[in-house]
Amino acid sequence: MSVLITGIGELTTNDEELGTLPDAALVLDGDRVVWVGPAPAAPDADERVDVEGRAVLPGWVDSHTHLLFAGDRTEEFGARMAGKPYAAGGIAVTMAATRAATDDELAGNLRRHVAEAVRQGTTYLETKTGYGLTVADELRAAKIAAGHADEVTFLGAHLVPPDTDAASYLDLVCGEMLDAVAPHVRWADVFCETGAFDADASRAVLLAAQRKGLGLRVHGNQLGEGPGVALAVELGAASVDHCTYLAPSDVDALAGSDTVATLLPACDLSTRQPLPDARALLDAGATVALASNCNPGSSYTSSMAYCVTTAVLQMRMSVTEAVRAATWGGARALRRETGDGAVGVLRPGARADVHVLDAPSVTHLAYRPGVALTHAVWRAGRRVR
Ligand code: NIG
Repeated sequence: MSVLITGIGELTTNDEELGTLPDAALVLDGDRVVWVGPAPAAPDADERVDVEGRAVLPGWVDSHTHLLFAGDRTEEFGARMAGKPYAAGGIAVTMAATRAATDDELAGNLRRHVAEAVRQGTTYLETKTGYGLTVADELRAAKIAAGHADEVTFLGAHLVPPDTDAASYLDLVCGEMLDAVAPHVRWADVFCETGAFDADASRAVLLAAQRKGLGLRVHGNQLGEGPGVALAVELGAASVDHCTYLAPSDVDALAGSDTVATLLPACDLSTRQPLPDARALLDAGATVALASNCNPGSSYTSSMAYCVTTAVLQMRMSVTEAVRAATWGGARALRRETGDGAVGVLRPGARADVHVLDAPSVTHLAYRPGVALTHAVWRAGRRVR
């Protein structure tokens, strides 16, 4: 069944040759884009949808979320707004609630959060384990996540659980836990930060995961300058996420590498941290992605539009840069931006992930902050809104 989407006032393709097109059309067939070009030249299709001058872009690619959780941390958020600093230790609160939840409760919670994201234009989403922190709880998180998210990351190295010996826990993560979880995930991650895992421990986790054939991601430089970015670049991680506190050498290292700097502005705002220096990264030539970091502790939002708006209004990114970072950048961070079924891009052969805004241009995402602008969404060719 093919669908012609026509009457597009502004089409952002993220394709180098196609660029941004006025008066454009798209044809979807099954789960793929099969044609992109000027509206008057569009071929026929089984169904025709006229979007009446609205802007169309690839669906958001949210490359960093933590949606395998139970419970709520409203109280911690309230304390933070009253001046208490964010610390890694809050993860243990969600760990306890997650361990106590049934599989059905965890799956239901995940499904609700994914549906919430999709309603707002997210069409490709990564999520992580990391609130189980036993072999059995990390394994069930990975299995549940694999049923509902596009990409799954193993984050056994999120926190050393309370009352646990750090060296024994590290051995567990790099050994039995990794062996159990690896068949169900594509990526491994480590929270490389004071209060979580230091540089040596992080390196051990990443090398063990690499030996298992997993791709690498790193939580780095969230709460202060530290070794996360350098380690991610050295080991060829696909992305290093947060990047809130960067030394000039970190910016240079990222600019000279294939590691994507994934910025999580909603998290920085919710934890009352400064916003990352996106301008320094972009001007140096680093690849930047924007992601929601949706989780119950540091960033409880699934809104990629909010991240884009913040990036433009408060981080000196242009609208074009921010939209690209939240679509193509996320895809690049997940190594899904090229080839058959590419995401974050609209060109023949790409996955049919389409986001129609109730606005004539993507500029309205920043020009009309806080307004829900998602008009229609196709995810892998299926109309989901
Ligand atoms: O990306 N930084 C580590 N992990 C999450 C927060 C998890 C939590 O506080 O529950 C993050 O911000």
